[in-house]
Amino acid sequence: MAKLITKEQMAEQESYIMKLKEENMRYAAQNGHAKLALTETYGCQQNENDTERIRGMLRQAGFDFTDDSNKADVVIYNTCAVRENAEQKVFGRLGILKHIKEERKDMVIGVCGCMVQQEHITEKIKKVHEHVDLVFGTHALYKMPELLYRAIHEKKTVVDIDSSDGAIAEDIPIMRDDDKKAWVSVMYGCNNFCSYCIVPYVRGRERSRTPEAVIAEVKELVARGCSEIALLGQNVNSYGKDLDTDVDFADLIRMVNDIEGVERIRFMTSHPKDLSDKLIDAIAECDKVCKQLHLPVQAGSNKILKEMNRKYTKEDYLAKIEKVKKRIPNISLSTDIIVGFPTETKEDFEETLDVLRKVEYDNIFSFIYSRREGTPAAKLDFVLTDEEIHENFNKLLEVQNEISKRKNEAYVGRVEKVLVDGVSKNDETTLSGRCDSSKIVNFKGDKSLIGKYIDVRITEAHTWSLNGEIAE
Ligand code: 5AD
Ligand code: SF4
Repeated sequence: MAKLITKEQMAEQESYIMKLKEENMRYAAQNGHAKLALTETYGCQQNENDTERIRGMLRQAGFDFTDDSNKADVVIYNTCAVRENAEQKVFGRLGILKHIKEERKDMVIGVCGCMVQQEHITEKIKKVHEHVDLVFGTHALYKMPELLYRAIHEKKTVVDIDSSDGAIAEDIPIMRDDDKKAWVSVMYGCNNFCSYCIVPYVRGRERSRTPEAVIAEVKELVARGCSEIALLGQNVNSYGKDLDTDVDFADLIRMVNDIEGVERIRFMTSHPKDLSDKLIDAIAECDKVCKQLHLPVQAGSNKILKEMNRKYTKEDYLAKIEKVKKRIPNISLSTDIIVGFPTETKEDFEETLDVLRKVEYDNIFSFIYSRREGTPAAKLDFVLTDEEIHENFNKLLEVQNEISKRKNEAYVGRVEKVLVDGVSKNDETTLSGRCDSSKIVNFKGDKSLIGKYIDVRITEAHTWSLNGEIAE
């Protein structure tokens, strides 16, 4: 059973929120406006969800929000460590903030999340980016009010990257981005140690929230008008293994399915080795669970899968996919692929293309391998050149784009229930939303339909989206 942050510890943080609020109210009375905070998120949905908590704490502490770093009094970057380019972007941003801070000495700059949970990164920040006031890791999120208070008052960088306890903090304030759709974390961390991946090192071991805590959060969301729930975890299929009760993820989604007011349930991410028949049955039988499965394969070659420490073969994976397709014929499938794992040869890569052609995913998320210090794969030498890896990456996209387009074409003529997210980026009169399988659907309609479920007849298919019209 995961340790919980105690009520006393949470109360202590609340007292810091009150201290910040008092100061901020005084500031607002003197200046005619509240202090402004800016948050920026890199990486996965878990990070998006963590930023919603950061904004929740900031709002309770009396901050307003801005997107303009020239105006922000507090800037918090919630960072990602999965690939190097996300880290480089943050360092680039910190460089720009240095100049802004030279003009505005009271500005407080904070960097948090996965990236700073790595010691070499925190050392670099301390050495090269002395203008950063606050550094805290994924385990210290709940302590942000205290750390921010100290960063404002102490004239030295406040750092908390302790990863020793990893206790779960319930009831951190939250400011959700969307009224209708919400992420709900069901577990944190990962025990899989895939050889390329930094996540287990920066997010710690798997810890499940209790079913009671998850259900209570979903019920509260529904009471506020939210109806689409996305259950989140690095590997949701091992949900519950660390709990005292014998509830697993299949049981949990059935519990959420029973909650009145929930219309749609999504979840991610599933590890193929842990995808059980029981879970496949639950997806098939629960009317609110979207018929959509994200099942990262990463690579097609058995040699590479072994070196990645994925614990399944290409044949095991394809057999699971066949089982899923048979049990849930209308399932929409997606996956993650890494191109250019160090020991990957051209022949190995062909095996990945073969998986794409056999499975026929609706869409894929593909990444070029990024070396992560401290992971076992970081020690391996590369077989292919950068150029060859990029060629393979482009080939992968080419093969998949053709499949995605074909899969989308099968939707033409169907009526799909779409939850309307907003107006399209390019055209105010076009609405955009997502259907059950999470495909983007654009159609003409009035803004008043935002936040509603609308039946849309699909008229046209593109590679990345569908067009349609409101069904009579
Ligand atoms: N390089 C490239 N992609 C990676 N991923 C994880 N680690 C790396 C890495 N070192 C990808 C995997 C994972 C997704 C979230 O990010 O495909 O499923
Ligand atoms: Fe990383 Fe593998 Fe865990 Fe996914 S399952 S977070 S790829 S270690």
